[in-house]
Order: sequence, then structure tokens, then C-alpha cells
Amino acid sequence: MRILGIETSCDETAVAVLEDGHIVRADLIASQVDLHQKYGGVVPEIASRRHIETIGPLVLSALAVADCAAESLDAVAVTTQPGLIGALLVGACFARSFAYALQIPVIPIHHIEGHIAAVFLEHPAIVFPAIALVASGGHTDLYRLDPTGEYHILGRTTDDAAGEAFDKGARLLGLGYPGGPAIDRAAAAGDPKRIRFPRPRTAKEDDFSFSGLKSALARRLALAEEKDALADLAASYQAAIVDVLVEKTVRAAVRERARAILLVGGVAANRLLRRRIGEEGARLGLATYIPAPRYCTDNAVMIAMAASLRQTRGTPLPDTRVSI
Ligand code: KG4
Ligand code: ZN
Repeated sequence: MRILGIETSCDETAVAVLEDGHIVRADLIASQVDLHQKYGGVVPEIASRRHIETIGPLVLSALAVADCAAESLDAVAVTTQPGLIGALLVGACFARSFAYALQIPVIPIHHIEGHIAAVFLEHPAIVFPAIALVASGGHTDLYRLDPTGEYHILGRTTDDAAGEAFDKGARLLGLGYPGGPAIDRAAAAGDPKRIRFPRPRTAKEDDFSFSGLKSALARRLALAEEKDALADLAASYQAAIVDVLVEKTVRAAVRERARAILLVGGVAANRLLRRRIGEEGARLGLATYIPAPRYCTDNAVMIAMAASLRQTRGTPLPDTRVSI
């Protein structure tokens, strides 16, 4: 079974060829970071236009890298939601036409389902029930994954996503875009206890809230009597985000009697978060699964993997059937 995966929901054009749910024959990502950097964030119109230029050649390159003919593909999996609508449309329209020409099915994939699927690539034998924390630039969601193959949303952010908190914090600190990796790096040399940023509370215990944290950083930068070291600011800010993510995920895992914790999405590439979740899991006797950093941030292998899992685990997210 060979699946072509296509992901164009934000600022990365990504194409992959996945065989039998575990052999990555091609995994290409054309990043647009340079294009959006000077604006300090993704400009939707510019993203769509670049996807249009990139998608065709990238699919041909992926087939060349995979060393397989288009006719040998069995299906095309494409992200159809959520994301920037113009950007999604480029991938979805391409996927539809390409699949039509080959007379093979198109499998519409929910981006979050893709992020969760990334774990199964390296860990096919996950024990259930499991708690999945999906932390990315647009989402911070907690799911319970049941042995039956169903996913239940337990909570989500009520304002900014965790990745957004990293990106906005980095912008305030003058560290540029994307902010997560920049704060991760800057924090390595800092003292995470130097500044006590708030750990925001929410009405529902499984929800998240990060917008107050960004405001606290802005206030600190404006009002601090003596200038804080950049590394200490980055480390303390990162610690506040990671503390909340770890605490809520672990609490949900214990309450739901989960046997495993999954950590996915771009923020799962964060080194402190990876270490802390691993430590907490070990303390509680829970297995922890985190994709390799390359499969945490947006990619197309995870989209093809989600399609592949549909064959074995059914359709996990009820709202994935919306197609463009
Ligand atoms: O999953 P993703 O690539 O795209 C979305 O679906 O949003 O996630 C991107 C987010 C960005 O906010 C980025 O700053 C964050 O993931 N990120 C990180 C790290 N690498 C990427 N955040 C913290 N530490 C990192 N090392
Ligand atoms: Zn993503």
C-alpha cells in the first residue's frame, strides 16, 4: 500500500510517500520561513501563492526520491482542515486532480489527526487508553485515545495556543520567527527560576490559557527595575509554558487511568517539554511516546500515516470527513 501525503495547511509545502504504514520512501518539505520572516508571522495570501508554485514540482521530486511511478500509488492523503483556507485549497485541489487522473481515492485528513498519527510511525504498538497532548502553533488540545480507536477531546486552549505563546514571546524578546526553536535555544543557557511567570488557571481543568503569560512577559520587559538577561527571560518563560502543559497532561492521564502519554505537534519538538514528559511518565509508570522532532513539526508523512491508520484503526476524529 503506497500513499502519497500532501500537507499545505500553513507555511510549509510538504509531500511524502509512505509504504505499508511504516516505510518512508520520500519526505520533502519546502519551507516558506524565509518568505514570511520579515513580517514576523505567516501572511496567508503569500503562503497560498507559494504553495501553488511549489506543489507540482515537489510531488514530482517526491516520486523521484521514492523511486516509484505515479501509477504505483494506491491513494492520495491530503490535509483538508483546519488551516489557512487558501493554503488548504491548493493542496486539496491538487490532490483531487492528481488522484482523478490516476483513478485512485483521495483521503481527506484532519491536520490534528495527522499530528497524532506521527507517533504511530515509530511506535505501532501503543497501549490504550492514552492521553495525547497536541501542542502546535494553532492548537493546544488534550485527547483521550480509546482502545476502540475513538478519540475524545478533553480540553483545549481558551485563547492562544502553546506554539503561539512561544512565537509571541520570542517576538517580544526580539528573537524572531518561528519563536519556539529560538526560545528553546536561548533558554539553554538561562535560569528557569530567575523570573516567576504565572501558571494560568482555567475554569475547566483540562483547558489551557496562554494569553496572560505573554502579557506578563510584556509587563516584565517594560517594568523590570534592572534589565533581565535574555537567556533567563527565555528559560523562565519556557518553564511556565512547559510546566502547565506537563501538569495538565499528567493530571488527565492519572484521572483517565491512561496507560500511555503521547506528545505531538510542533511544540513537542521542545527539548525541555520532551524531557519533562518523559520524566513524569517514568515516575508514574506510564509509557511516553514522542515523535522524532522532524515528525513533530508539520510534515506530509504524518498525513499519509493518518490515512494508513484509517485502514487499521477506523476513523478517529468525527469531523474529518469534511472535504474541500
Ligand atoms: O505543528 P506545527 O509545525 O504547525 C502548526 O500546526 O501550527 O507547529 C508550529 C509551532 C510554532 O508555534 C513553533 O514555534 C513551535 O511549533 N515549535 C516549537 C519548537 N519547534 C517548533 N516550540 C517550542 N520549542 C521548539 N523547539
Ligand atoms: Zn501542525
